[in-house]
Amino acid sequence: MGQCPGCGEWNTLVEEAPPPGGSRGSAGRAGSAVRAVTPVALAEVQAPRIPRLKTGIGELDRVLGGGLVPGSLVLLGGSPGIGKSTLTSMALGNLAGAGRRTLYVSGEESAAQIKLRAERLPGAALQVPVVAETDLDTVLATLEAERPEVCVIDSVQTLHAAELSGAAGSVGQVREVADRITRLAKARGIAVLLVGHVTKEGALAGPRVLEHLVDCVLQFEGERERTYRTLRALKNRFGSTNEAGVFEMAGGGLVEVADASARFVGEATRAPGSVVLAAMEGSRPLLVEVQALVSPSELVPPRRIANGIDRNRLALVLAVLGRHAGVGVGSADVFVNVAGGVRVDEPGADLAVALAVASAQRGVVAGDGARPVACFGELGLSGELRSVAHPDRRQAEARKFGLGPVICPDAAPTLRAALSAALPARPRARAA
Ligand SMILES: Nc1ncnc2c1ncn2[C@@H]1O[C@H](COP(=O)(O)OP(=O)(O)OP(=O)(O)O)[C@@H](O)[C@H]1O
Ligand SMILES: [Mg+2]
Repeated sequence: MGQCPGCGEWNTLVEEAPPPGGSRGSAGRAGSAVRAVTPVALAEVQAPRIPRLKTGIGELDRVLGGGLVPGSLVLLGGSPGIGKSTLTSMALGNLAGAGRRTLYVSGEESAAQIKLRAERLPGAALQVPVVAETDLDTVLATLEAERPEVCVIDSVQTLHAAELSGAAGSVGQVREVADRITRLAKARGIAVLLVGHVTKEGALAGPRVLEHLVDCVLQFEGERERTYRTLRALKNRFGSTNEAGVFEMAGGGLVEVADASARFVGEATRAPGSVVLAAMEGSRPLLVEVQALVSPSELVPPRRIANGIDRNRLALVLAVLGRHAGVGVGSADVFVNVAGGVRVDEPGADLAVALAVASAQRGVVAGDGARPVACFGELGLSGELRSVAHPDRRQAEARKFGLGPVICPDAAPTLRAALSAALPARPRARAA
């Protein structure tokens, strides 16, 4: 049925597998008495300390909270071609090299294609046993027979449960597949990395219930044509969701970028419209270049293009700049870009965007021209600067790379003050 007879909505019906052994509930269980269980005080619960499985990829282990927890389910989402299969293959390769039992189940690629990828990866990627299979029952039987410690399912959208008639990847199918894999993984203590696709809108495809079902949701993001990719935890039952890892795709697979700040500062252009933002990626400070371009436009309304920051945030910053700092962009096009394809989702980026736009609009280089200007801070609607988390770590990171003094809410209480600190030379008044 396309339309629900109850509520009248279209395409809301989701197929469910019938419970095993006929109808659940009254008739089936009436004969056998249901036994109550005895609750146990938490202090008496036996919880042996199980060491985490180190994937050997430092950034991935950090985002996971110190490695994979045995028996846990991790959902790894990301847009096509971002490197999900590469990352999981490398992790399994390292684990196999460390003597762990691993299994790579692929419903997307043939064993030969997986081998082609593994050949360019470092470590023991070629030692990982692979299965190219899309039938859920076969995959579960294989897991039961092989009993790996760590298993990758690439991807959850390609597996098909025979009891359901829906196509693989449909809401009902994905839910059933994830549910049955979870049960087996918990029962047998298998750490499972589920790879999931991300839709155009940016949501993890398949039902949101998948996110509740798994222990950890990782998002691998970045743009395919850019070099840098970031791995973030959206949810983690065994660690913080504040951590992020930075990777770079290279011929030999994904390379961890431990010194991301050094690279971004080194690449900063020192031209009008460029400032360095002292951002926080979780608990780690990161210096990134924010660039702006203000150019005359024939379009009505003019363009406001934001890459790496939120569009609404840009609109707010432009409004505050015009209203409280005398920097109007009027009917010009404004482009703002965070270099390297990095995304900064924090209010601390406001000041960097404002300074970059003001610098571009006036056509003057921020700072003394020798070193990039570093800044951070949130913009209030009345033009004041508000403090953001971890000012000390941001300052320390900027100092480490020879940037300073850093323009921040402590040094400049308002946007006007920040502007006069960053852009000392005011341009001559233009003839109207
Ligand atoms: N020899 C190579 N050198 C550098 N980069 C490569 C090379 N081969 C592949 N890549 C990169 O690897 C990416 C594909 O990685 P991978 O197959 O892991 O992505 P994926 O996220 O699993 O994609 P899909 O959603 O299609 O499964 C390509 O986009 C390409 O940028
Ligand atoms: Mg893949």
